[in-house]
Amino acid sequence: MSLPACDVLSRTLAVTNVDDAIESRQSIRAFSQRPVPRDTLKEILDLAARAPSGANAQPWKVYVLQGQSKDALVKKVCKAHDDLRADPSLAQVYQESYDYYPRQWISPYLDRRRENGWGLYGLLGIEKGEKDKMHAQHQRNFRFFDAPVGLMFTVNTVMGQGALLDCGGFMQNIMVAARARGLDTCPQAAWNSFGSIILPHIGAGEDEMLVCGMALGYADETDPVNTFRTPRVPGEEFTVWLD
Ligand SMILES: Cc1cc2nc3c(=O)[nH]c(=O)nc-3n(C[C@H](O)[C@H](O)[C@H](O)COP(=O)(O)O)c2cc1C
Repeated sequence: MSLPACDVLSRTLAVTNVDDAIESRQSIRAFSQRPVPRDTLKEILDLAARAPSGANAQPWKVYVLQGQSKDALVKKVCKAHDDLRADPSLAQVYQESYDYYPRQWISPYLDRRRENGWGLYGLLGIEKGEKDKMHAQHQRNFRFFDAPVGLMFTVNTVMGQGALLDCGGFMQNIMVAARARGLDTCPQAAWNSFGSIILPHIGAGEDEMLVCGMALGYADETDPVNTFRTPRVPGEEFTVWLD
């Protein structure tokens, strides 16, 4: 296998084979202001829709936010995020439409989550107890990490949980297809608490639920946050061979 694209000169160069596109995908948390051509976005979305879905229902819907619509949403949600910090009882208002994370974490997931969180904060020089810094870093989510494109994924509420699975496949295709065009992404469940603000803002119907957000753009290759490369457990630890 050839070298993963993350080891080559620039992440903004197109990756030319599938393995490298998958291998080089990582969550990017600082983007440059370089605009993404609309035709490139259309190409990625059309291609990503080749994702399989139960009964070919294709339950996903995606809202593409740029310019004014993105800036206005960023403003609203950053304010809500600040308000929530000042008054934690607002958590009643800002509820996710489904549990993305477990209510009670257990090992080994808890350990991996901790390793991930402290790895990222460590890289950013944020120490335990530095709540202002943590809040500010978390709020970078609600600026789409300065990406020029913000995506919001919804599914119709009549669909079963399988629609979330289908939507995940669609999202993964977008993330991989982005790499084939020198683009990067960060999937963002952080937005999920703010569906009550986001759904009316994007003009979603009453029958739609927010599945996830995603930042998309060209990586800012000068920002150290983008050197964060996460580990994986080897296949032998999660595979059960039945012969
Ligand atoms: C559905 C989904 C939601 C995520 N939400 C967030 C998020 O809100 N903010 C964030 O910084 N990263 C988010 N991530 C990124 C994960 O933290 C990241 O995928 C994981 O640590 C592995 O790192 P990698 O993507 O760089 O390989 C999300 C990932 C997925 C798949």
